[in-house]
Amino acid sequence: MPTYILGIESSCDDTSASVICDGKVLSNLIANQEIHKSFGGVVPELASRAHQQNIIPVVNQAILNANIDKKQLNAIAYTRGPGLLGSLLVGSSFSKSLSMGLNIPLIEVNHMQAHLLAHFIEDCGETKPNFPFIGVTISGGHTQIVLVKDYFKMEIIGETLDDAIGETFDKCGKMLGLPYPAGPHIDKESKSGDIKKYSFTKPKVEDLNYSFSGLKTGFMRFLQKEKQLNENFIESELNNLCASLQHTIIEILYEKVIKAIKQTGINRIVFGGGVSCNSGIINKFKKNEKYENYKSFFPKFEYTTDNAAMIAMVGFLKYQNNDFSSLEKGAEARFKF
Ligand code: KG4
Ligand code: ZN
Repeated sequence: MPTYILGIESSCDDTSASVICDGKVLSNLIANQEIHKSFGGVVPELASRAHQQNIIPVVNQAILNANIDKKQLNAIAYTRGPGLLGSLLVGSSFSKSLSMGLNIPLIEVNHMQAHLLAHFIEDCGETKPNFPFIGVTISGGHTQIVLVKDYFKMEIIGETLDDAIGETFDKCGKMLGLPYPAGPHIDKESKSGDIKKYSFTKPKVEDLNYSFSGLKTGFMRFLQKEKQLNENFIESELNNLCASLQHTIIEILYEKVIKAIKQTGINRIVFGGGVSCNSGIINKFKKNEKYENYKSFFPKFEYTTDNAAMIAMVGFLKYQNNDFSSLEKGAEARFKF
């Protein structure tokens, strides 16, 4: 008998629903919230209101697109955290009600684990990584190096002490006048820029941890100084600024990931999260595979950003282990694994 799982993701500003059958994606719908663009970042209250408006149509459409009846669903997997509490509450309350209504099990999913386990979706792109591997979760809210021994045996061995990598792209992009989220714009501009034109200081952080706040402040001061000399500095140098900034961010990321593979002796590096579609990051890690003797794995573009297919995938893995959740458990903004 095939197993159908409905996944529901609402941790930040995307409302997403997906139906998968035995690890194969039948539908994966994402309603983006355009409203945050005019504010230059996600406004939590507006995000939860938009989730409330989107969740029923998105879930309905995901079931329709999967060409199944909701009575065929075996379980509902939802993002319990981490994320914005108001946003998480919409997805978790909806999932609980639907699981009660359909009388099927409920499965809680950790969003960051899901970014890594997205690689086990049937058509994720690359071959599935073997365990153990070094997981690198890079998104708007997280920057983590994770020792992954098995599907649910994960240990964070390094993380950012301040800003996340995606946040750094977005905040520096805002200083350059780029729209939110700025990550993809910086990536695009970088392609025609000179990575060596400007150099920015890299942080000195212990162990496998990261820090991006110094780079952000240094970048801001540099722009202020240059703008005093030439008020069109940003406009005329945009591609070079983006390329040099992106290059510095990648160098910071790369150094600790390489340190992690040397320290653990594990040479499979598995990326997840919105920033893992950055072309500079992909090129850098693919280019140096032979030189540093590792293999890197990047998900297909649609599974890098927040999506419910990865939530449904974790749901499927947990369903096979009879690992179900109870209605008493609530959304958790700082959900740990
Ligand atoms: O995983 P995600 O969709 O949401 C969170 O859980 O945060 O990640 C969103 C982040 C944003 O900071 C966005 O700017 C960044 O991913 N991002 C990129 C690129 N595409 C998205 N950063 C750099 N280069 C990109 N191409
Ligand atoms: Zn995410």
